Amino acid sequence: MKVKSALSANPRKFALGRILSYIFSGFIFVTIWDFYQNHKSNQVYDYIAPPQDSAVSVKSTATSVVSTTTTGQDLDLDLDFRAIGEKIGTDKVGGYSNILHCANDENRCIHPKAERDVCRSGLHFYDTIYNRWLAPYAAENNPMQFLEIGFYQGKGFETYSAFLSHNKGAELHSMEISCIEPGPQDEGKWPWGNFAKKHRWYQDLLDKDRLHCGDASDYDFLHNKWTTKMKRKDAPPLKVVIDDGAHIHSQMAASLFYWFPRIEPGGILVVEDVEPISQGNKFRTHIVPQVMKDLHWCGGPSGQKTLIGNDPLCFPTIQPLLQGIHCEMHICVFVRNNVPAHEPDKAGSITPSDAFENAQKCLFG
Ligand SMILES: C[S@@+](CC[C@H](N)C(=O)[O-])C[C@H]1O[C@@H](n2cnc3c(N)ncnc32)[C@H](O)[C@@H]1O
Repeated sequence: MKVKSALSANPRKFALGRILSYIFSGFIFVTIWDFYQNHKSNQVYDYIAPPQDSAVSVKSTATSVVSTTTTGQDLDLDLDFRAIGEKIGTDKVGGYSNILHCANDENRCIHPKAERDVCRSGLHFYDTIYNRWLAPYAAENNPMQFLEIGFYQGKGFETYSAFLSHNKGAELHSMEISCIEPGPQDEGKWPWGNFAKKHRWYQDLLDKDRLHCGDASDYDFLHNKWTTKMKRKDAPPLKVVIDDGAHIHSQMAASLFYWFPRIEPGGILVVEDVEPISQGNKFRTHIVPQVMKDLHWCGGPSGQKTLIGNDPLCFPTIQPLLQGIHCEMHICVFVRNNVPAHEPDKAGSITPSDAFENAQKCLFG
């Protein structure tokens, strides 16, 4: 009553008061909306991550990525894989936000017993690799085909898509096993639910033949999708393949042996999660060291021993195509040299039968 009579006594003040209160409530609404959006987009990749404590998240510092176009012009794209990845919530850069609370609370982390602090988060710091190796493809028109193995719920794929979004010549593909027909595993079906379906692009990617459902460690599946959906006359050259699939050593090796010969000169094969975990450890201890040994191989005159004695190649289908290897913690990039891509037969596209058993002998004689 008192308020009403005070306002009606001064209508100008009343109008001003109402305007101010609209602005104020608009401000509160925008603040709440921003908070909700931020919270939503900063949720950590929920496949393996514990709940995130936002109070300890570390802010990203965006850096510029300078890319060179096909015409040689430098483009300052102001792209940063970490900034994009943290917004989308991919575990590829999840280590930054996870590491502090992992250091403080060992019960909340995936590798609580790891001595090395940066391993404790169970998540990764892959932005330095991707900022460096994907930057050449981030420019405006650089035709390239890209394949990710292991779509899961699409956060990685979305991050790559955003990073490469300036490049109108980029064609992105992904392979995922969980979107095959549901049913018992012993019938060749998938019993654990369709992870990929949760992503809003799922149907569109299927319709456009960009998401391929099947076992990406199986030669027949790979070969079918490669020859019918990817290696088309109008397709851009295959430049990047990323294995973020099962992280089982035999499957990581299968990606290397199938894809490396098919990647065009200058392209890369990235294998994620080269970690000391039981199912994947042999890729770290058996495959990477053998490829590394082959990298420095010189051979000798035909039929003769080299200066260091007998020096066989460990992986004859990989070495002739290998420019280099760049590994950072838990991730390796295998770089293609300028030898043209080719289409090996099945024997030349699969992991050699002795790749794991023969490692000790090939490395140390
Ligand atoms: C680590 S998650 C991928 C995460 C995703 N790349 C991301 O960044 O959000 C591994 C995915 O690979 C899929 N996968 C496992 N084995 C596979 C195989 N042999 N072929 C295709 N996909 C496979 C799993 O179903 C799972 O969705």
